[in-house]
Amino acid sequence: ADVFTFDPGFTSTAACESSITFIDGDKGELLHRGYPIDQLAAKSHYLEVCYLLLYGELPTAAQLEDFTSRVTNHTMLHEQMLNFYRGFRRDAHPMAIVCGVVGAMSAFYHDSTDIHDPWQREVASIRMIAKLPTITANAYKYSIGQPFVYPDNNLDYASNFLRMCFAVPAEEYVVDPILARAMDRIFMLHADHEQNASTSTVRLAGSSGANPFACIAAGVACLWGPAHGGANEAALNMLREIGSVDRIPEYIAKAKDKADPFRLMGFGHRVYKNFDPRAKVMKESADEVLGLLGVENNPTLQVAKELEKIALEDEYFVSKKLYPNVDFYSGIILDAIGFPTSMFTPIFALSRTVGWIAQWKEMIEDEKQKIGRPRQLYTGAGFRDYADVENR
Ligand code: CMC
Repeated sequence: ADVFTFDPGFTSTAACESSITFIDGDKGELLHRGYPIDQLAAKSHYLEVCYLLLYGELPTAAQLEDFTSRVTNHTMLHEQMLNFYRGFRRDAHPMAIVCGVVGAMSAFYHDSTDIHDPWQREVASIRMIAKLPTITANAYKYSIGQPFVYPDNNLDYASNFLRMCFAVPAEEYVVDPILARAMDRIFMLHADHEQNASTSTVRLAGSSGANPFACIAAGVACLWGPAHGGANEAALNMLREIGSVDRIPEYIAKAKDKADPFRLMGFGHRVYKNFDPRAKVMKESADEVLGLLGVENNPTLQVAKELEKIALEDEYFVSKKLYPNVDFYSGIILDAIGFPTSMFTPIFALSRTVGWIAQWKEMIEDEKQKIGRPRQLYTGAGFRDYADVENR
């Protein structure tokens, strides 16, 4: 009989070769196409990182201009797609809407669903990068009962997204450059993270030959869970539930108690057993945004700062190498910008779309890849004869 390696959670199985992102979890290092994330966060911006992830090199000025204009040309959603939103309950979670609308793109953009045609793959990729901010902002507007705001193609990617989320008719909306920069950094720091659960889901869905929109919708669905992309929402909800610094010890005790399923949300990572390099940059960004908005005395932030301090000193967290992760700080920034917690994971999904696409394209172009088909160790009953119902 075949013998299979038992590897729950795939902690020691490499399912693919990839040249996109490298992580050294012990050193706390994250490289995209060789470039360290802290240098990209300081010097680059989201669309340039998108180009790097998709095509393998930093663009020249002309290449970047061409890429930006191709993305900008596709920011509008087909008018008919707007009807799709109206089928959702008015208080639907925006993540449910994003998941549905991304999947529905395959019903609207038939000319970019043939995975064997490189041109169609390219158009599908650009369409998703361009439309995810519009889809996500519309999901938000719908959930709060405000009219959709059409994209403004004179704005950069992050500013356009903020405007689509926060502008209302008959009032001028001016995007603050510090907030736009913080938004862009959130996009950049979430752009790709090698074979995490949602990316592996996209690859698995793609391995069957499913169209790119369906594959990315599968990624969105997987990202939703609180152990993955849902952690930013869960982290902020937890900070609010704790409410004040004096209640922290109670929650630390719960997190350590093995009989209690509670975990400190926004702490720990499967791969980083050292400070998450994205969290370092995100922490700087959080300080900048909170400085600008003058909310240093916000109780949620006080709890966050104190919790971070205690967790970094406490023997339990230190010995298990449970550092604050990127979602711990991104939630604080998004809250300060004015997003409700229900928007945190959709924003993660929009940022990660380029990573999912880059990984999907790499897989399609890799001749060694075949349909993903894990095996199992069967633990059920052995062969037995069917018993008629009166004999059971
Ligand atoms: N609070 C308290 N204890 C924890 C935590 C936590 N946040 N995370 C892990 N532990 C303990 C866990 O109980 C286990 O203890 P023991 O060895 O005594 O049984 C040990 O640390 C190892 O945990 P694990 O669950 O085996 O580790 P994992 O690699 O399977 O899980 C994780 C990684 C991120 C799912 C987990 O740390 C977690 O649930 N964290 C909270 C949720 C969170 O913040 N997720 C965001 C991840 S980063 C963004 C992303 O990539 O999506």
